[in-house]
Amino acid sequence: MPRVAVFSAQPYDRRFFTEACAGRDIDLQFHEVTLTPDSAVLAQGADGVCAFVNDHLDAEVLTALAGFGVRFIAMRCAGFNNVDLAAAERLGLAVARVPAYSPEAVAEHALALLLTLNRRTHRAFNRVREGNFMLEGLLGMTLAGKTVGLIGTGRIGIATARIFRGFGCRLLGEDRYPNDAFQALDGEYVSRERLLAESDVISLHCPLNDDTRYLIDEQALSLLKPGAMLINTSRGGLIDTRAAIAALKTRRLGGLAIDVYEQETSLFFRDHSGDIIDDDVFQRLTTFPNVLITGHQGFFTVEALTEIAEVTLANIDAMSRGLPCANRVTQEG
Ligand code: NAI
Repeated sequence: MPRVAVFSAQPYDRRFFTEACAGRDIDLQFHEVTLTPDSAVLAQGADGVCAFVNDHLDAEVLTALAGFGVRFIAMRCAGFNNVDLAAAERLGLAVARVPAYSPEAVAEHALALLLTLNRRTHRAFNRVREGNFMLEGLLGMTLAGKTVGLIGTGRIGIATARIFRGFGCRLLGEDRYPNDAFQALDGEYVSRERLLAESDVISLHCPLNDDTRYLIDEQALSLLKPGAMLINTSRGGLIDTRAAIAALKTRRLGGLAIDVYEQETSLFFRDHSGDIIDDDVFQRLTTFPNVLITGHQGFFTVEALTEIAEVTLANIDAMSRGLPCANRVTQEG
C-alpha cells in the first residue's frame, strides 16, 4: 500500500481526503506543517507527497524528498508555480495536479469579491449592526452595461465570463490561446493595453509563470481607466502590490479585491490574530476602505473539495503504480 505524506493538512483536508480514501489502498499521513527544507524529513519512508499552494517544492526540498525515497508529488490544487519541474524531472519525481475542480467555485468567489467591493456590503453589514443606517460611503456602480476585462480565459475565466454576461456586462479578454467558448459568450479578444484602458472591472485568471509575474505593474496600472476595479483570485505574484498601493493612493485604481497575495505563504491558512504581522505592505493594504482581502478561499466549496480529494487520490493511485496519469505536469506542459 503506498504511503503518502500530506503536508499543510487542515481539518477539512483530513475530512474530505479520509472520506474519499474509503475503499482505496492508500495510507495517508497528515502533517499540519508546511513542506519546507526543515519539515521535508516527515516524508521519510513515504512513497509520495501530497502538497498544496504554499508548500515549498524547490530544488532543495525535492532533492531531500528524492533522497528519502519519495517517487511522486500529488498537488491537490490546479496551480503548480511552486514546483521546480526541471528539478523534479532531473530527480525522476512524477508530478500531478488537479487541473479542474469546480471552476465555478473560484469564479463565484471572484464575483462575491467584486459585488462586496462595489456595493460595500462588508461596510454596510458592520454599520447596520451598530445602528448606523447612513448611506454615505456606500455608493457603488450598476454593473449592467459596464465593461469587464478578463486576463486569462481558461476554465475559471470562462466560468467568470458566463456570470458577468448574465449581469449584462460587455466582455473583453486577453489570452495567449484565444478560444471559441469566450467568443461564443460575445467576448472580444483585445490587446492588454486596450483591455486595461477600457475595462471598468478587471479580473485575473491566468497562471503565474515567468511571463505573467507582475503583469499588473506600475506601467499597466498607469493605463487603467481611472477608478477601475481589479480582482485577483489567481496568484498573488500577478500583481506588484507596492505599485497597486501607489495606484490606490492616486485613485487611478478605484478598488482592489484579492484572494491571493504575493507574500501569502507566511500568512494564509493560519490564525495570526494574536501575532504582530511584520509585512508592512500587507498591513498597508488592509487600511484602505476600498481594498478587500480573503485568504485564498476561492476553491473552498464542498463540491470543489470533494473533487480535489477524488482526483488527487486517483493521481496517487496511478503514479504509485507507474500507470499513465492524465494529470501529470511536465516542463513541456
Ligand atoms: P486554465 O489553464 O484553464 O486557464 C488559464 C488561461 O490563462 C489559459 O487560457 C491560458 O492560455 C491563459 N494564459 C496563460 N498565459 C497567459 C498570459 N501570459 N496572458 C494571458 N493569458 C494567459 O486555468 P484555470 O483552471 O482557469 O485556473 C487559472 C488560475 O486560477 C490557476 O493558474 C490558479 O493560479 C488559479 N486558481 C486559484 C484558486 C483559488 O482558490 N483562488 C483555485 C484554483 C485556481
